Amino acid sequence: MKVITILGARPQFIKASALSREILKRKEVEEISIHTGQHFDANMSEIFFEEMGIPQPKYNLGINSLSHGAMTGRMLEEIERIIIDEKPDWVLVFGDTNSTLAGALAAAKLHIKVAHVEAGLRSYDMKMPEEINRILTDQISDILFCPTQTAIDNLHAEGFDKKKTRLVTTGDIMYDSAMYYRKMLKKPIGLKSKDGFILVTIHRQENTDDVAKLNNIVTTLNKLADKGHHVVWPMHPRTKKKISEAKLSLNFEHIEPVGYLEMLYLLENSSIVITDSGGLQKEAYFFNKYCLTLRDTTEWMELIENNVNQLVKVDNKNMLDVILENLNNKIDNSSNLYGDGQSAKVIVDNLLSFS
Ligand code: UD1
Ligand code: UDP
Repeated sequence: MKVITILGARPQFIKASALSREILKRKEVEEISIHTGQHFDANMSEIFFEEMGIPQPKYNLGINSLSHGAMTGRMLEEIERIIIDEKPDWVLVFGDTNSTLAGALAAAKLHIKVAHVEAGLRSYDMKMPEEINRILTDQISDILFCPTQTAIDNLHAEGFDKKKTRLVTTGDIMYDSAMYYRKMLKKPIGLKSKDGFILVTIHRQENTDDVAKLNNIVTTLNKLADKGHHVVWPMHPRTKKKISEAKLSLNFEHIEPVGYLEMLYLLENSSIVITDSGGLQKEAYFFNKYCLTLRDTTEWMELIENNVNQLVKVDNKNMLDVILENLNNKIDNSSNLYGDGQSAKVIVDNLLSFS
């Protein structure tokens, strides 16, 4: 069985690491990966392949820094060409980026089976580019690997219970990765803040492209720092660019994006996580940390329902008060919301048994 895996953005490398490791154990499966090039800085791409031992992609398309349509369109054209050449049995896509949609669409039009890992998630906010990518990818996939029962329920509500698409609950593949690499975590070189810091990541279009929202986030974090709280923010290049364009100044520790092993150190040694990242919301839970999510919605509703995560509106004038009120919240992650860390095995078994 030949599988083409589509990679492009940071969270996809982390998800793919678990799957590639499982595939390497199976003699009957050959994996080739295509890196679209969507993320391209060394600390947004190469570092993950090196640190995590992810097999090198056979192709790197070098497509990035374009508008949504241009980026997706160029990826579609290039991926189609490779699929025609390689004739895979499956094209496997992860998550909800432009690379995900381009890979799924190229394959579906060529009648190559599509498997979507992290399927069925919904924020019900069509303004998010990710929501459009998810919905369309799910519609054209043959098998949907869902991390949670919430995801399955979302798909049923859209009529998938009456369709031929195979739905499989797998648990969350990011949990596979966190469990496997946890023992290898590394302190980021040069980190100044003492353990117990507030870990922050922000990169969503809705927060970075709206200057008022970005300003409110930065001002709030500055005030937190003024009150003596230590903040560590590994900054996504998109956010760095927007902060610099808006000429905002920061009075807390902000560092370059870190590798996954360094990120695991930051998670382990933080007191609380403040983020708009999908992945970080779950990782906060894996590492038993309360999470404040600076968004109006989340796809990971079970975290909210279990009181381990709270949505905080970024246009909220009282954002600082909300953060201060919740800074010392502790959580209990023994409910295992995301499976047993064996998603990759379930995924490969299902690809092999699919007919
Ligand atoms: C993308 C995904 C988002 C995902 C995120 C993970 C889409 C629509 N968005 O958002 O769902 O949560 O990845 O991090 O697919 N840039 C660099 N260096 C890099 C990567 C990006 O400078 O290595 C710059 C680009 O030039 C661009 C900006 O960051 O100006 C945004 O990059 P892009 O890939 O379009 O979207 P992300 O915000 O990274
Ligand atoms: N991550 C990382 N280094 C960083 C920031 C994030 O390794 O500096 C990891 C993080 O631990 C998680 C993934 O990248 O596994 C999440 O990616 P991101 O927040 O960019 O995207 P999202 O999950 O929101 O799509």
